[in-house]
Amino acid sequence: MKNILFLQASPHGFDSLGARLAHEALMRWQWHEQRSGAYSVLRNLTEPPLSALSRDYALASVSGHPNTDPALEYSEQLIAELTQSDCLLISTPMHNFTVPAVLKLWIDFVLRIDRTFKITADGTFGLLADRPVLVLVRSGGLSIGETARQPDFLTPYLKLVLATIGITMVEFIYLDGIAPDDAAIDAARGEIARSSIFTSAFHHQRDAL
Ligand SMILES: Cc1cc2nc3c(=O)[nH]c(=O)nc-3n(C[C@H](O)[C@H](O)[C@H](O)COP(=O)(O)O)c2cc1C
Repeated sequence: MKNILFLQASPHGFDSLGARLAHEALMRWQWHEQRSGAYSVLRNLTEPPLSALSRDYALASVSGHPNTDPALEYSEQLIAELTQSDCLLISTPMHNFTVPAVLKLWIDFVLRIDRTFKITADGTFGLLADRPVLVLVRSGGLSIGETARQPDFLTPYLKLVLATIGITMVEFIYLDGIAPDDAAIDAARGEIARSSIFTSAFHHQRDAL
């Protein structure tokens, strides 16, 4: 049984083209896989929006409090969703050259020292099992390749964030432009369908955290 966690990060919710394409691909995949019991879990980061970090969380997350500390409850919930998933699908807009604030908040709740990564004299080590990730990026301007008109801090940033907790199998699909035409949308649809989260028979070793 395969489980995909879907993080939706656009303020437009399911009016977002990226979220619609991601959702469409998930529904098709679930329909094909229904006999295997495959399922997806939606974490809509914008509705209800993730709350800003509290002082209690900021203190508890770095001072070795037990994971049962109430200040860590929401972080534990988001980490559990991730550790219970076999694959991760992120649909996100680019906001000011990088991830939108809600996705940054998710990161601040999930990257926790001595919980999802540790730092030793030999470097930083991720504590989660690796798993395939697909990131679908929507941007108003061109940000990839020779026609790029702006820097792309989103891609290297998300790669580093995920690698920090042990997740390195990350694919990116970009859908840029204010109003992508049908050909561009169809091309993105094809890329999504061929991505490893929808095609591989990969099952990660569930995290024992
Ligand atoms: C606050 C904000 C910042 C944005 N910053 C960028 C940017 O840096 N680069 C860019 O190409 N588009 C930028 N955009 C445009 C969005 O990426 C674009 O409208 C995209 O299609 C939104 O995707 P969505 O409908 O999935 O939310 C920004 C939009 C907003 C609201």
